[in-house]
Amino acid sequence: MSPETQTRPPVKLGILISGEGTNLQAIIDATRGGELRADIRLVISNRAGARGLERARLAGIAAEFIDHRRFASREEFDRNLVAVLNAHDVELVACAGFMRLLSPVMLRAFPNRIMNIHPALCPAFPGTDAQRAALDYGVRFSGCSVFFVAEGVDDGPIIAQAVVPVRQDDDEQSLAARIRAAEHRLYPHAIRLFQEGRLRVNDRKVFVGGSNQTDEQLMLINPPL
Ligand code: GRF
Repeated sequence: MSPETQTRPPVKLGILISGEGTNLQAIIDATRGGELRADIRLVISNRAGARGLERARLAGIAAEFIDHRRFASREEFDRNLVAVLNAHDVELVACAGFMRLLSPVMLRAFPNRIMNIHPALCPAFPGTDAQRAALDYGVRFSGCSVFFVAEGVDDGPIIAQAVVPVRQDDDEQSLAARIRAAEHRLYPHAIRLFQEGRLRVNDRKVFVGGSNQTDEQLMLINPPL
């Protein structure tokens, strides 16, 4: 654990989900394993049967189902989200498979404090079926991106990306599984950068303090040389 991780208080997290919650699980595990100092204040799902709610409860974390259909508009739903998140003293919101677009109501309440993860290298392949789109396009690499949510679909200042190779024999499932494994490492890492106070946002760009790898260390080529 780096000195920054230890000296700063745990980040007070609210996690929004709609489904399986494997990214939620990765964040819970990283917190338990000591790689991430986070206090997960609550998990909210807009779907009743989301497996992620179960995962939260099993970990002893407050979990709430809030049905978006109870609200007259997206803004009304978001106003309620803001109230619940504030009531739990949340400072950073992490969307993890949350299948709702956020309105300016949420974005204004948590400026540069809402993260999302997308299973592609943004700005490529926004929307659902990103893995299918990457395969159909024939890219040699795909991956995942964690970004600060802004208006628009799967768009916003990029915090971190992980790259995975696309293999000749991949189908949607095999590529999705490889990307998912990368997501589970990347999301806790991105949240840790926030907890360590290393993220500075300037318009579209996020500057990460304290990283200094050479071009050679960062280079990726596929097929390999
Ligand atoms: C992930 O692939 C994430 O990138 C996308 O939704 C999926 C959520 O998976 N936004 P899980 O619910 O965390 O398993």
